[in-house]
Formats: sequence, structure tokens, C-alpha cells
Amino acid sequence: METQKWTQLWLNYKDAETKPGTADIVVEGFDENAPVVANAIAEFKRAARGISLSLLHKDTIPGEGYRALGSEDGITVEASDERGILYGVFAAIRQMYCGKRAVEVAEEASPKNPLRMMNHWDNMDGSIERGYSGESFFFENEEIVIGDRTRDYARFMASIGINGVVINNVNVKGAASYLITDRYFGRLSELSELFEGYGIKLYMSLNFASPIEIGGMDTCDPLDQKVIAWWEDKIKEVYDRLPNLGGFLVKADSEGRPGPFTYGRTQADGANMLADVIKPYGGIIIWRCFVYNCTQDWRDYKTDRARAGYDYFKGLDGAYHDNVILQIKNGPMDFQIREPVSPLLGGLTKTNQILEVQIAQEYTGHQIDLCYLIPLYKEVLDFHTHCDPEKDTVADVVSGRTMGNTLGGMAAVINTGNDLNWTGNDLAAANLYGFGRLAFDTDLSAEEIAREWIAMTFGLPKKEEDILCSMLLRSREVYEKYTSPLGIGWMVNPMGHYGPSVDGYEYSRWGTYHRADHLGIGVDRTEKGTGYCNQYYEENAKMYSDPKTCPEELVLFFHHLPYTYMLKSGKSLIQHIYDSHFEGEEQARGLAADWDSLKDVIPEAAFGRVKERFDLQLDNAREWRDQVNSYFFRKSGIADEKGRTIY
Ligand code: GCU
Repeated sequence: METQKWTQLWLNYKDAETKPGTADIVVEGFDENAPVVANAIAEFKRAARGISLSLLHKDTIPGEGYRALGSEDGITVEASDERGILYGVFAAIRQMYCGKRAVEVAEEASPKNPLRMMNHWDNMDGSIERGYSGESFFFENEEIVIGDRTRDYARFMASIGINGVVINNVNVKGAASYLITDRYFGRLSELSELFEGYGIKLYMSLNFASPIEIGGMDTCDPLDQKVIAWWEDKIKEVYDRLPNLGGFLVKADSEGRPGPFTYGRTQADGANMLADVIKPYGGIIIWRCFVYNCTQDWRDYKTDRARAGYDYFKGLDGAYHDNVILQIKNGPMDFQIREPVSPLLGGLTKTNQILEVQIAQEYTGHQIDLCYLIPLYKEVLDFHTHCDPEKDTVADVVSGRTMGNTLGGMAAVINTGNDLNWTGNDLAAANLYGFGRLAFDTDLSAEEIAREWIAMTFGLPKKEEDILCSMLLRSREVYEKYTSPLGIGWMVNPMGHYGPSVDGYEYSRWGTYHRADHLGIGVDRTEKGTGYCNQYYEENAKMYSDPKTCPEELVLFFHHLPYTYMLKSGKSLIQHIYDSHFEGEEQARGLAADWDSLKDVIPEAAFGRVKERFDLQLDNAREWRDQVNSYFFRKSGIADEKGRTIY
């Protein structure tokens, strides 16, 4: 029964434990009227009616950390700061909804990553770039919207430990360029205050060409004194009105966005100029490394888009100022279902780094197809870069453990919109929840996170929880099987990025080629090819450069191989393509059947919404299977050993 305007996701408190009598609230060492503390108390009252709560100041607990303990008298949360109190209260709530009684609550934790950020790609006209869940709930008709939905959003984010939100698209155009002007300061300061109450700092994406677009200047050269002076005035004006602003995210020299290259300056010149200007206010500049040539000629086999990030940024390692963080996508290309880890992560050893992943399912099924992405994020975090004898995983690097730095963490392109269920597909909320939990504690497993999310969202009996958990955990591999094989990526419909089009990008300017002909497929990124392999530290470079040691799920990312190449499974490459596509489609049907089996335990409305998505997913899987198989059968002329129908 959903009578509310939108769902409450994992905070629906459907079985709030209720005890008779009055619940006491004791606060020691904090101001109970401070917004963060007051919000924590309000949340607790909502979730756990009738249970007493004590919030105590404890200096010994690390910043943003907490200790939450239950006893016969209720719940006690100890922390050294207000965010710790907030997170501790949410931890207690989580434990209670994951099956513990109040007296059994016991958890001590502090975040592994300093920055845990959401990046919205929301435009001011209300549309969302790569959004699959309706329109923006931040912007409408070039105005900022603040309402109950905004508050619920902030609650959800706080409950999973998010402490920074970028509200607007990285492609800053039109009205969005004016977010740093008087036109929007009033509303922004209201939003910033609301966020602060949930421990969240407001950030914005910035137009590098602001001096031209809103300042009326004829240049935005970062080394031009007049440009610097313009930014100094501008940033002062911004911080006078938005003293709590965290800083800015900048997409420069990328896919048509302006940047320092226009003036013969480096990425560091651009980032450092802004960082110096913002430094007196405690702000930071998050500078994206998604810089590549997007006007490539498909005939050109030398230029390799995968190389671009490293080629542009590695040489400037150490040149970036302390309050600059480079934001690096998990893979060297662009959020494909399978990519190697970007060699920039850990390749940089003297620069703050933040890992960027995409929760929005741009290339992973548009929140129509089920694709639980936490296993993918885990693989990235656990990857050994070999940048350090001990602390060399991506998790080590971005958390600051490797370099002993304090600026770094994880950011995600979010999957929300104003749909009733926030994420288009109800099950896609597992990715939203999971990203936050994982950014807070990178040691959690994909399964633990899935189970938490299921328990809080649906509260299912064990058997049904197992079914849904298994569906989530299988889903990424299923999606991978019926789409592009062995790390080759793309093969999607251009622009929209949903559904198959094997040659959709093959003759385009975007640098995303599979190079299939009648003999074989794949991109040679070894020394004989583009040399991309050598951007990794030696151990990884060696592993990738030989198809025998290259992890097989990535073999076509690194090698051009004949269809007759024998995989470790004993199957030829072409047979693997056929088998995986038949299997993937069949397993998608298995997922849909599993969902059907949950009909009696899932609320009717949610059940129906997800069922509709599965119907679409099955069409999609079938289309992928048949187009990919037919394409390779026609190219190679090699028949399926099992004689199945290929068109
Ligand atoms: C992808 C996506 C774009 C987006 C870009 C980015 O290429 O398709 O819509 O702007 O990533 O990350 O900046």
C-alpha cells in the first residue's frame, strides 16, 4: 500500500520496533538543537518508537566515526563530532532492521574514505543527462526546487554516509553557468543549509569558461592576471553567500567543454589557478581526468582513447596543489560492463585521487535491466596496482592510506530522479544504497551489502531473501554475457546507449572500436599495438600483455585474437561468444522467474513495477543475443557447434 508521493527506499521503517512507555532522549556534550543532532534524534524517533536514546560525546572516537550500543535501557551512540552521531544513529537503525533487537545493537566504525560523494548530472531545465528515473528533483524550469523530497533525499544520503553532493551536471551550460551568480544564491544557501543538517556539503560543477560566459571577458586563460582577478572576485562573492560550499567539480577540455588546453596551458595550470583562489575559503577543486580526443578517425590505429587519461595527467604528477583532487573514472574508457582499472589510479603517486564510478546505468541497462554493480566496484577497489609494496590497492590509494594524504575517496554518478521509486527500477536502489555503504566501509562484501539493503527495504523471510540476494549477485554477469564479450565494450546503440548495435560506434569519432573482421576481433594494446599495457606497473603490464596470462574476461580489451583462439575453458573464442550469449539470455529469464517467485512477499506496487522492467529486459537480452551472434556468424562463417538458431 503506497499512499505517499514517493517511496521511502530503505528507510521505510515498516516494522518499527515499538515499546510501550516514554522514550528518553539524553544528549551529553552536543547541542541537541544543532541541526545534525536534532535530525538524528528525529530519525531515531521515526524508526524506533518508544526506545530510549543517549548521545554522548567521546573524544577518542575518530572523526565521523561512532560507537552504537544497545542495552536494556535503550541505545547509546558515542561520537566525537555531530556527523558521527548521525551515522551512529543510522547504524543502530540499520542493525535493528537487519534483525537485531535493540539490546543487541553493537557497532563501532569510522569511514574508510574521507570523501563520499554523489555527482548529479542534473540540468537546470529539469532533464538529467544519462538519467533513467524521471526528471531532476533539484531543478525545474531553470529554478532550484527545495521541498520535502529534498529533505528525504538528504536523509537517504546521510543514512549511507554520503558527505558531499554535486547538484549539477558536469557539462555546465546555459543557466547552470549562472549558479555562481546572485540569481541563485538565495536558493543555494537554503539547500546548503538543509544539506548541512545531514552532514552533507554542497558542491557544484563549474564552467571553466565562466569569465567569458558570465563575465563578459574575451579569455579564460588560467595564467592571465585579469582572469585570475575575475575568479578572485567571483569566488569571494560565492563564499560570502555560501560559506559552507565544499568546492567545485570541473570537467575541462573534455567532450567539447572548455579548458586550459585552448590557451596552451596544462591541466595543472587550470586546476591550480582555481584551487589557489578557493583555498582561503577552505574549498577544494575536484578536477576530472576524463580528457581524450573525441574526434578520432576510425582509420587511425595508433591513437588509443584508453591511453588518454594517463598520457595527459601522469606527467604532471606532483604539480597539483594540495586542495586539488583528480577524479578518475574506474576504467580508462567509460563505465563499460567490464574494463580494466584505470592505470592512473595508483599510477599517480603524489596527487590526491578520487575514484569515480557510475551508479546510473548508462551502459549497464538503463535501470531496466537488473545489474547489481557492487561486485564491479569491489573488483576495482581490490585491484592491486603495485604502486606500493604494501598499500597498493585502489582502495588504499583513494582512501589516502598509500600516500598518507587526507583528500580522496569515492564519487558516483547517481541514478536518481523524481520517479515515485527514485531509481526507475526499484531494484536499482541497491546500487545507490550499496555505493554509499561501500564508500564508507570498503571492506563490506557485495553480499553483505545486498542483504542489508533487502532487509531494510523489504524485510523478507530468509528463503526469499536468499533468492533476491542471489538475483542481485548474479545479475552483472548475466548482463555481461548477453552484451559485449570479454571486455571489448560498446556495441551499443549510439548516443542512447541501450540495446545492441555491434557496429554502432565502429566508424565514429569516439575512439571506441572493436576492430572485428572475418578472422578475429579485439584491440591490440600491447607494445606491438597501442602500448597501453605499459601504462601499468610492470607486474600488471606483463600480465596484460600476454593473452595467456591476461584475465580472460578482459582478453579482447588487450588483444586482437582470431575466432579460433582457444580459451582456457577449452572453447574457441567464437564458440565462447555464442555460448555466453545463449546462456546470458537464458539466465536473464532465470532472473525474471525468480522475481515471479517473490510475488507474495513483495508489496504489490513494487512487484509490478519490477516485473514490467523484467519484461523489457528479456526483450533486450534476446535482441542482444541474436544480433551479436548473427553478426559474428556472418563475419566468421563459423557455425555454432551446438547448432542453435543464429540468424
Ligand atoms: C559519458 C557520457 C556523457 C558524459 C560523460 C562524462 O561519455 O555518455 O553523457 O557527459 O561520460 O563523464 O563527462
